[in-house]
Amino acid sequence: RALSTSAAHFNSIKTVTVIGSGLMGSGIAQVAAASGHKVIVVDKTQDIINKAESSIKKSLERIVKKKFPDDTKVGKQKYLTDVLENLSLSTDALAAVKSSDLVIEAIVENLDVKKELFSALDKAAPEKTLFASNTSSIPIKEIATATQRKDRFGGLHFFNPVPLMKLLEVIRIPETTDATYKSLEAFGKALGKTTVQCKDTPGFIVNRLLVPYMAEAIRLVERGDASPRDVDTAMKLGAGYPMGPFELLDYVGLDTTKFIIDGWSKKEPDNPLFQPSQMLNKLVKENKLGMKSGEGFYKYDKK
Ligand code: NAI
Repeated sequence: RALSTSAAHFNSIKTVTVIGSGLMGSGIAQVAAASGHKVIVVDKTQDIINKAESSIKKSLERIVKKKFPDDTKVGKQKYLTDVLENLSLSTDALAAVKSSDLVIEAIVENLDVKKELFSALDKAAPEKTLFASNTSSIPIKEIATATQRKDRFGGLHFFNPVPLMKLLEVIRIPETTDATYKSLEAFGKALGKTTVQCKDTPGFIVNRLLVPYMAEAIRLVERGDASPRDVDTAMKLGAGYPMGPFELLDYVGLDTTKFIIDGWSKKEPDNPLFQPSQMLNKLVKENKLGMKSGEGFYKYDKK
């Protein structure tokens, strides 16, 4: 009786609660609604939620123009209405999860805050409800300890911008059952994503390779071996990458990359791939965070 019957069975995800309506949460909610799921998006205040709704609408309008270039205005409007009908907004996470097959958490990257949220959700959600975190840098197993449903817990790691990026990393902790994993994977495929499976290790697959690569690019520049511009040109034309490492750093945000490196280096201080970078720390201190602040390794016109 320890294992609930619902945990042993494949859970076909139809209703989803997305908690956190920022950059990632609003993207996840949008693709889930656009693929026919009933979605409730939750954030702390009505004001934040309203902003998320208007950014989802704008994003959908861009997609509709590309997706149905020949369609009539009426056809386009119907698509928008259908997707928005699948979407509702709330500031009450505990009420929202009562009717959900799956909860995806995309709130602030802070272990204590995530644990507090999941502990409360665990008590409010039905037994069948699966839990997932979109965290980039916190071990899923540490978040899952806040709940009594580690067997129904996993990671769903999306990429920014969610509507455009095809990949979804589906993360298993040792307790994640096959049924839970299969349900999460099937949900990812239903969103139109290509899924890959990874254990709960720092950075999963993409960031584990990408972050040390970007840090090594910074070290190359710190030594004075080449300029950021030439490194970017080299990696685009010589390695076939769509963006160079410095363009990518500016796009991702220097503070975000620093946060990830700092977290890893604290956990594995002897790992040479996880060493903090002085140049990165200096730029972040000067509030040169990349595109979003108008300057990082390059300068940008502020919006
Ligand atoms: P964000 O700062 O844009 O959005 C976070 C949202 O969560 C905010 O709207 C905030 O009001 C809300 N929030 C915070 N605490 C809350 C709570 N207790 N209850 C309800 N809402 C709450 O952050 P972003 O970039 O969307 O990141 C969210 C998560 O996604 C983080 O765990 C991050 O590691 C992960 N992630 C981020 C990626 C990125 O490129 N930014 C990529 C993949 C994962």
